[in-house]
This record gives sequence, structure tokens and C-alpha cells, in this order.
Amino acid sequence: MPVADADEIGLAVALLQAGELVAFPTETVYGLGADAANPLAVARIFAAKGRPANHPLIVHLPGDAYLERWAREIPDCAWELSEAFWPGPLTLILRRAPGVPTAVTGGQQTVGLRVPAHPLALTLLRAWAEAGGGVGGRSGIAAPSANRFGRISPTEATHVRQELGERVGLVLDGGRCPVGIESTILDLSRGDDQPPRLLRPGRISAAQIALVTGLWPEPAGRETGDDAPRVPGSLAAHYAPATPLRIVPAERLGEVVERLRGGGRRCALLCHSASLPAGDVTALSRLPDEPWGYARGLYATLRELDEAGVDLILVEELPTTAAWAAIADRLARAACAPR
Ligand code: TXA
Ligand code: MG
Repeated sequence: MPVADADEIGLAVALLQAGELVAFPTETVYGLGADAANPLAVARIFAAKGRPANHPLIVHLPGDAYLERWAREIPDCAWELSEAFWPGPLTLILRRAPGVPTAVTGGQQTVGLRVPAHPLALTLLRAWAEAGGGVGGRSGIAAPSANRFGRISPTEATHVRQELGERVGLVLDGGRCPVGIESTILDLSRGDDQPPRLLRPGRISAAQIALVTGLWPEPAGRETGDDAPRVPGSLAAHYAPATPLRIVPAERLGEVVERLRGGGRRCALLCHSASLPAGDVTALSRLPDEPWGYARGLYATLRELDEAGVDLILVEELPTTAAWAAIADRLARAACAPR
């Protein structure tokens, strides 16, 4: 894995202190970082992504010792979950502490917090805290996924450069992100007497959360109306390639490919079953037939297929077991996107 040297980390910290943007790898996807306590720096994130300002950002912390600088009325289960899963791909939504700028919370009374597990992200966060931690010494780096709004999250440094180019001052290169899909988001802001709400499924599953808290998280409702975008990942359409994408059961793929070809349409196919015949497609990608390997390769593969010059990306339907749920969620949203 490529690693940043001390000079690069020093440059990243200096840029953050100056209110500039720094992209960095996490174990899930690359983030587009800024001083989370500096509203002007946070505004630059929204501008670079083309993201509406009422969509809250996740604040990344060097460790759970920093939690109380950002959240208040922290329920016991938040400490249990941070102990069990941080550093790691779990974001906790908590009530925001006094003075946390609403720029980073999308105007809400809650804030999203996580400690990422990537060594480069942790090195950056620790150096950032040691250098004073930005405005008010809060030591948080706000970082949404480093893609344009609604598009596929980047899992390699080149994806960030291709998509954001000059909009970002520095991209720290940590190689390919090992998890490959965004963190699980759990809302704990309703207090200890309410079950947690699962706002976005991810690598940390509902069952793993239930084992720690003793409460099965409630699924969040699907929100599609104009007043719903507080959780962008909860919009029906998200995480999308520019090419239309359709999910097709394995047994129907042959027939669908044939029909599209007959109609003069070029299609790409993303499959996972080893036994599946490729058919006559313009581009073919095969991802591993197990969820972790599939997730790791998914976004890079969708980017490649998006550039294959086809009319449609067909994706072999995934198994319906819990282990595939977070990936199925991302693909369903990609299939919903308007173009
Ligand atoms: O894995 C990840 O979570 C990556 C890496 C970079 O950490 N970040 C990421 O950020 O996916 P983003 O902004 O692309 O998605 C974060 C999601 C958004 O859907 C946002 O609305 C939600 O977290 N979120 C953040 N703060 C929230 C809050 N206070 N209440 C509800 N949802 C919140
Ligand atoms: Mg995102």
C-alpha cells in the first residue's frame, strides 16, 4: 500500500489549517476533508461536491476521547459501540455539542461521527490534533465521500483526481480502500430508551450492532420527497454511474442480453456467479462470489463499465442473504438514479 511521508502529512495539516480541502483514504471510501469546526472550510466541501448545503457531513475523529467535543447526552450504547467498532466503518449520529457549527450538521441538532480504521486517515487525524486541531481545538475533519454529489464514491486516489481535479488541494494516496462501500450509519440521537435507527447499511451489520447493544436497530424509512434529503444516502437515487443500470436475475440475463442486442443496444454486464455464461456483451466484469470481495471491487468496476461506451449496465441480481444487504442497497439506488 502506498504511504504518505511525513512531509505530505505536514502539508495536509497546513492546508487544513488554512481552510483548504484535503482528500484522504479511509477503509471504506476516499473522503474530501476540511476542518469540521471551520464553516468557511466546510462550505468549500459543499462547493467542490456540488452538494446542497442542508446535507450533513460526517466528522472524522482521531479517537473516541474526542467524542465529547462534538456530542452531548451521549448514551451508554454509543460508548459500547465505539469500544467495539472504532476505529472502523461505523458512523454514530448523536446530539451535537454546544458550539458545533451547523454548517457541518446541515442545520440539524445532530452530528455524524466516526473514527476511521485506515492507517493513513488515522495518521492524518492524529497529526491534525497534535497541531492544534483547527478552530476551537476540536480536532475533527469533516469528510463526505470525495465524489460529485449523487455519483459513485471513490475507492482509489485516481478516482478522486479524475472527478474533483483542481477542486481539491491535495489527494493523499493510500491505495485501494479495503472495505469499498460507505460506513454503516446508526442514529442514536433519540436517546437510550429508543432503539437505534439504521440510516445506511454497511460492513458493520445490524446483527453485530444488536450483539453489542442488545437492541435490534430499526430500519429507516425510504425517503424520496423534496423534504427528505437530510440523509443523502437515504435518497432513493444515489451512488450512480452516468450510464443507466438495471438489475436482472441470473436466469433471465441471457434473454435480456439477446433482446437488447436485437434492438441495437450495447450493454455491459457485471456478474458474480462463476457458472454464468458471459453472453454477447460489449464489456464484461466478474466480481467475487462473496460479499466482502464484491464490495471491495464494486465502485471501481462500475466506473470502468461507465466508461465502456454502452447504453446500459446490467448487473446480475445479488443473493438476498443479510451479508449482501448493504451492497444490494447501493445497487438498488444506482438503478433508481434519474439521468
Ligand atoms: O464511509 C463513509 O461514511 C465515508 C467516509 C469518507 O467516511 N463518508 C461518507 O460521507 O460516505 P457522505 O457524506 O458521502 O455520506 C454520509 C452520510 C450522508 O448520507 C449524510 O446525510 C449522513 O451521513 N449524515 C451525516 N450526518 C448526519 C446527521 N447528523 N443526521 C443524519 N445523517 C447524517
Ligand atoms: Mg457520499
